[in-house]
Amino acid sequence: MNPSDKLLVTGASGLLGWKALSYFLTEFDVRGTYLNHEIGGISSLLDRCDIRDHNEVSQYLKKTQPLIIIHCAARTEIDAAEKDREACYKINVEALKPFLDFSAKNSTHFVHVSTDAFFSLREGMQATEDMEPTPLNYYSETKLEAEKLVQNADIRSTIIRTNIFGWNLQDKTCLSEWIVDGLVRGEARNLFEDVLFSPILTSRLVRAFGEIIRSKTYGLYNIAGTESASKFEFGLKLAEVFGLSSESIYKSMLKDSPLKAKRSHNMALDSSKFYSQFPALSATLTDDLIEYRNEMIYFEWPAKESLASLQTFYSR
Ligand SMILES: NC(=O)c1ccc[n+]([C@@H]2O[C@H](COP(=O)([O-])OP(=O)(O)OC[C@H]3O[C@@H](n4cnc5c(N)ncnc54)[C@H](OP(=O)(O)O)[C@@H]3O)[C@@H](O)[C@H]2O)c1
Repeated sequence: MNPSDKLLVTGASGLLGWKALSYFLTEFDVRGTYLNHEIGGISSLLDRCDIRDHNEVSQYLKKTQPLIIIHCAARTEIDAAEKDREACYKINVEALKPFLDFSAKNSTHFVHVSTDAFFSLREGMQATEDMEPTPLNYYSETKLEAEKLVQNADIRSTIIRTNIFGWNLQDKTCLSEWIVDGLVRGEARNLFEDVLFSPILTSRLVRAFGEIIRSKTYGLYNIAGTESASKFEFGLKLAEVFGLSSESIYKSMLKDSPLKAKRSHNMALDSSKFYSQFPALSATLTDDLIEYRNEMIYFEWPAKESLASLQTFYSR
């Protein structure tokens, strides 16, 4: 690998994509694609490319000639996917075709970001790579079908199942940002005590991408947090690490929520296959949350009003 090797991140304006783009900046000749959000700060590295348009994608790949593609672009809103299935299918499944065709012709390493969402496990279990997924909603069905397309393509690919938290550059919040925002403002946050997951900080996940790419590791890998927690426990731990009162965090139950699509009670992943190969990347949830808190201090968190109050908090 050398610095002139071209690496492409699709969905580089999203929660994970911008982190991947930033991480590889000094190592490769990096570009990213977006659709609606031309993110400031990294915009000079971004190209608008609608992955629903196969011709546009083929032309773009021909022009940019990536040696590595990290595919983060996806339709990720679970309830919206249920309502507009066709749109979700086009983006999460059909859009793969020109990427896979290009990768086959050019020996490109295709890193496909998948999910934990198609697991619905009994309490106390964690899904290993050889367990059969059982999707409960349309989003998960499309993510599973996408994996099969990648697996069946004659290419060098790594499929990564995960669940992430981090900072969005876009004006939207993921679960952890929404919790921090609630803690800072003292606004109630009802968190499921009956939904288990094993989240990983986006910064650590992109370091894992680095190891996978440098070592040319192919196949299917779970790369998630080393611990599973309920969403409620995650909120409490986040409050503790951020040094904020957890008084506004309340227990709730999935069955009482207004969410439309069916969701799993346990989608925890067992990532021991990955960590046994790359033990240096293993970290506890607390380690990730400390890094998350430190990132917030150095980094312009988009929830600007809350950022001001947190900076005041940390300058005390
Ligand atoms: N977030 C999670 O907790 C989570 C959990 C498990 C797995 N994952 C997986 O991780 C990956 C990244 O997720 P994320 O949370 O970073 O996603 P995200 O923040 O929702 O970002 C999605 C990205 O896809 C782009 N995109 C959507 N439709 C497109 C289209 N038609 N053409 C081109 N680009 C398009 C978006 O571009 P614009 O915003 O510019 O329109 C954005 O950059 C996805 O594969 C997701 O399934 C995420």
